[in-house]
Amino acid sequence: MGTLKRLGVFDSGLGGLTVLNEICKYNTGLDVVYFGDTARVPYGSRTVETITRYAEQDVRFLLSQGVEAILIACGTVSTNCLPSLKRSFSLPIVGVIDAGCQAALKASPSKRIGVIGTRATVNSRAYEHRIHELCPEAQTWGVECPLFVPLIENGFAPEDPITEMTVERYLSAFHGTGVDTIIMGCTHYPFLAHTLQKFMPEVTFINVGKALSYGLRESFNLPQSGAPNRVSYFVSDEDTGFLDIARRYLDAVSAENVQKVNIDQF
Ligand code: DGL
Repeated sequence: MGTLKRLGVFDSGLGGLTVLNEICKYNTGLDVVYFGDTARVPYGSRTVETITRYAEQDVRFLLSQGVEAILIACGTVSTNCLPSLKRSFSLPIVGVIDAGCQAALKASPSKRIGVIGTRATVNSRAYEHRIHELCPEAQTWGVECPLFVPLIENGFAPEDPITEMTVERYLSAFHGTGVDTIIMGCTHYPFLAHTLQKFMPEVTFINVGKALSYGLRESFNLPQSGAPNRVSYFVSDEDTGFLDIARRYLDAVSAENVQKVNIDQF
């Protein structure tokens, strides 16, 4: 592949912005098309068949925008659909699993590693399988946290008592395991990073978007212009706060406008 000029990035909603924010810290002069499937979020409590159908439509929409490669900024799609998407589409497609697992193994002295994610992600055991491939003696624990995505998508602040109670409830599943590192296996979860850290201060939480951004140059042949990346934003429902949350969260990119897409057409 020649130099990549236009990259498609997608997620079920806002979560992929945490990945986008990391990749936009590197000024590569890349054109990025971001799609958040806000009409159908959350993906993580749906069947693999439904998630795959949605992901295929998301990829077809991005292809219609002329992207040359795809970054799946969604743990649920990466863990459940990456092989089938690679079979269905001929352009390069990268998910977040491998980078997240590599970073966790690097960070974990004891190789006792937790994974938090949506129900579909945890059920797939894809992060755990990859960790064991890379390090057979590692021990892993997966905990599904299905309420996190709705809390974030509905604008609950990380310090809201309901958010804190939910975090405490889910993280208590790790008590007694001795994990020293936990992969935030869903790209929405970095929005809750401070709250997660507050309840397990001794643990290293891995942001898969950050982990992935370091290796992006190896995954794709990126331009080297040094100019800021340009991002176009698309969502599948009326913009109900996407822009506000994007502006509040993104320090590396600015979201000026968001266009609506009828994803059923793809
Ligand atoms: N950001 C998605 C992920 O990484 C959220 C999944 C969902 O929509 O439930 O898994």
